[in-house]
Amino acid sequence: MQNTLVQNSADAGSLTNAALFFRRWLANPLQMGSIIPSSSALCRRVAAEVTCGEDEVVLELGAGTGVISRALLAAGVPAKRLAVVEIVPEMAEHLQHALPGATVLCGDAFRLPEVIPPRWHGRIGTVICGIPLVLLPLAEQRRFVDSVEAIAPGRGFLLYSYCVTSPLKHRALNLSAMRRAWTPLNFPPASVWRYRPRPTGKA
Ligand SMILES: C[S@@+](CC[C@H](N)C(=O)[O-])C[C@H]1O[C@@H](n2cnc3c(N)ncnc32)[C@H](O)[C@@H]1O
Repeated sequence: MQNTLVQNSADAGSLTNAALFFRRWLANPLQMGSIIPSSSALCRRVAAEVTCGEDEVVLELGAGTGVISRALLAAGVPAKRLAVVEIVPEMAEHLQHALPGATVLCGDAFRLPEVIPPRWHGRIGTVICGIPLVLLPLAEQRRFVDSVEAIAPGRGFLLYSYCVTSPLKHRALNLSAMRRAWTPLNFPPASVWRYRPRPTGKA
């Protein structure tokens, strides 16, 4: 009985998440980039790529309804060392309730030096990006890369994407690119990419 109650409330939670996600997609499809949250298979693949040293935090950009955030917590990232950034105030408010103990910042991931508290600058283990970057012009992609580099120098970031090839113009952005994982168990099937800044002067 207890299990049934827990299962029912988990199902209700998933439905609420999906409804909020879909409503936001109707309001701004380009900003959302997907009609439903990431699947648990994709969330687990992202979480498997995360590292977080002592005294570091994990930073998730574009947290949506928090499915990746919860996978990070389940994989062992302590809530007090998880920070998420979400631009839509309604979703950020939802995340405040869904992620007790984590830091939820309502702001623009293209302006991270202003959004992230100064005490965390240079203390970020992994940056994870769920923001749809693929359709952005190169100058906007560069602005995103520079924003991450300003608070997590040399770290680069993970980006999950539905593209078969690199969603970023990585050579023009002076990044190395590696596809770390792929799963068909997502709608649409998705890859996890890792990008790192190339040392200056290397091709
Ligand atoms: C594809 S959804 C990913 C949501 C969630 N992480 C998941 O995997 O289901 C993209 C999310 O990025 C947010 N977003 C878009 N642009 C953003 C920006 N500039 N700064 C912060 N969040 C942004 C959207 O509001 C949306 O919640």
